[in-house]
This record gives sequence, C-alpha cells and structure tokens, in this order.
Amino acid sequence: MAIGNAVVLAAACAITALVFAPSGTDIALRELAIFGGSLVSMLAINLLLLRRALGPLRELTGFARRINPLEPGLRLQVAGGDSEATELADAFNDMLDRLEDERRASVGRALAAQEGERLRVAQELHDGVGQSLTGVVLQLGRVVRDVDDAARPRVVEAQETARESLEEIRRIARRLRPEALDDLGLASALLVLGERVAEHSELRVEVHVQPGLEFGADEELVIYRVAQEALTNVARHAGAKRAEVRLERARLEVDDDGSGLPANAHEGSGVLGMRERAVLVGGTLKLTRSPLGGARVTLELPTP
Ligand SMILES: Nc1ncnc2c1ncn2[C@@H]1O[C@H](COP(=O)(O)OP(=O)(O)OP(=O)(O)O)[C@@H](O)[C@H]1O
Ligand SMILES: [Mg+2]
Repeated sequence: MAIGNAVVLAAACAITALVFAPSGTDIALRELAIFGGSLVSMLAINLLLLRRALGPLRELTGFARRINPLEPGLRLQVAGGDSEATELADAFNDMLDRLEDERRASVGRALAAQEGERLRVAQELHDGVGQSLTGVVLQLGRVVRDVDDAARPRVVEAQETARESLEEIRRIARRLRPEALDDLGLASALLVLGERVAEHSELRVEVHVQPGLEFGADEELVIYRVAQEALTNVARHAGAKRAEVRLERARLEVDDDGSGLPANAHEGSGVLGMRERAVLVGGTLKLTRSPLGGARVTLELPTP
C-alpha cells in the first residue's frame, strides 16, 4: 500500500512538472535537483505518516491471530488518544466481549444439557437395570437353597456374576452423577473420587482440600469434573504410582509422578472438556510439568 501510494505521488509530481515546465529543454539542473529533493522528502514524510496510520492495523492483525477462544480475556491496547485506531480497538474489544459472553453462555447450556443427560442415564441405570439385577441376585439367593447339591455351584456362580454386574452398574451410575457432591459436599466428593480411582487402578491417590472453602454450585461441579478427568487421565496414560489432588481457594492442582505429557500430545475431548469447563466459570486450565516428575493439571479459578 505504501509503495502504491508513493508511485501515485511520484507520477502526479512528474505530470505536474511536465505540464508546468516552461519548455521541454530549458529546465535548469538546479530546478531539477530541487524538484527531485522535494519529491524524495515528500515520499519519506508520506511513508512515515502511512506507517503511523497503518501501525494499529498491523497490531490488530497480529492480535487477531493470537486470540484463543479457550483463553479469553485478552484485549487490544492502542496508544494515541481519541484516534480512529483507538475507536477501532474499542469496537474490536467490544466484539470480543460479546463473543466471549455468547460462548460462555452456549458452553454453559451444552454442559448443563450434558449433566442433565448424565443424571437421567444414571437414574435409569440405578432405578431400572439396577433394581432388576438386585431382584435377580435375591431370587438366585432363594434358588440356591432349593436346588440339589450338583446344581448349587452353578447357581452360586450365576448369583456372583449378577452381583458383579450390579456393582459395575452402580459404579457407572456414580461416575455419571457424583451423588457425593450433592450429599456430602465438594471436599468429601473429592476424597471419595480419590478412593474410587485408587480402588480401580494401581495408583496411590492423596487428596488435600484446604478447610473452610466455599464455592458456588457451578464451580463445585467444574472442580469435580476437572479432578475426575485429570485423575482418569493419570490412570490411563501416565503409568504413575502416585497422584495428588490439591484444592485451595483459587486453584485445583492434580499432579502425578508418571511419564509426563508426551511432546506431541494431541488434546482429546477430555482436555478440551476441562478447558471449556474452566472458561465457563471464568477460570483457565494449564497442563504443565509436575514437581513429582509427571504431569500437572492446574485449574485457576477467579478470586472473589
Ligand atoms: N497425566 C498424564 N500423563 C501423561 N499423558 C497425559 C496425561 N494426561 C493427558 N495425557 C496425554 O494427553 C492426551 C489428551 O488427553 P485427553 O484427556 O484429552 O484425551 P484421552 O484421555 O486420550 O481421551 P478422552 O477424550 O477419552 O479423555 C492423552 O492422550 C495423553 O497422551
Ligand atoms: Mg482423557
């Protein structure tokens, strides 16, 4: 753009000089030099002015490329009083405010729908299949007493299988809906979560919750779901022996002593879900190296 502008200016000057020159041949060398000098200075000033005028646009382009919907809050700052550039920056920032509000609202709606669906499936598993299987276990218990000695081991085996399936269904329902969160509160729900993960993996899980913490219902659910996904990831990917969950006023940390995040780790729906949940409560999520040697997931919450 600056080059085009310079070419237009130079052409305009040359045409003006030719039109107003007294005759084609008697232009003095001195006049030509003055004309040339003026043209060069005009072009230089023009370039400087253009650079100043277009600088904010370049800043805006670089800034727009840095915007990450999962790390909201970044805003464009343009120095220079009440110029068009600051007006443009204000309009751009207002647009970001509106987009971030809308995104937070739509993520909130999507996650609320997901939680509602999980609750419904958990209840159906518990009240439907769970109740029927309980009936089967009880019935088989009665049958064991009536059958002869030859058939008894097979009935006992069937009863054991039904009991294991019932336990599995209860476990799935609990994972879908953390009832401890509703009944006992966040601290106990995290302790129960740690125990459950330890029970079903080779992991030793320590949970430390700072006493006296209070969160809103949305924040509690986000903290719980992030801790749940982070611990599931430790059990699935880290090859760790130990995991630590720490909850303080403005942060949740989940550490492990495993292999750490692979250099080319592809973020799947688990990490994306944690990031979206963090954005929902105005927080951020970071994956870093843990002092224990493996990975650290940090959920930073806004301070009240
Ligand atoms: N604690 C961890 N230690 C080592 N690698 C990890 C850890 N947590 C996550 N990762 C890596 O990050 C990747 C992305 O995790 P993410 O939870 O998004 O997906 P996933 O667990 O593979 O699948 P899902 O969508 O079912 O959760 C994993 O595949 C794994 O390579
Ligand atoms: Mg995962």
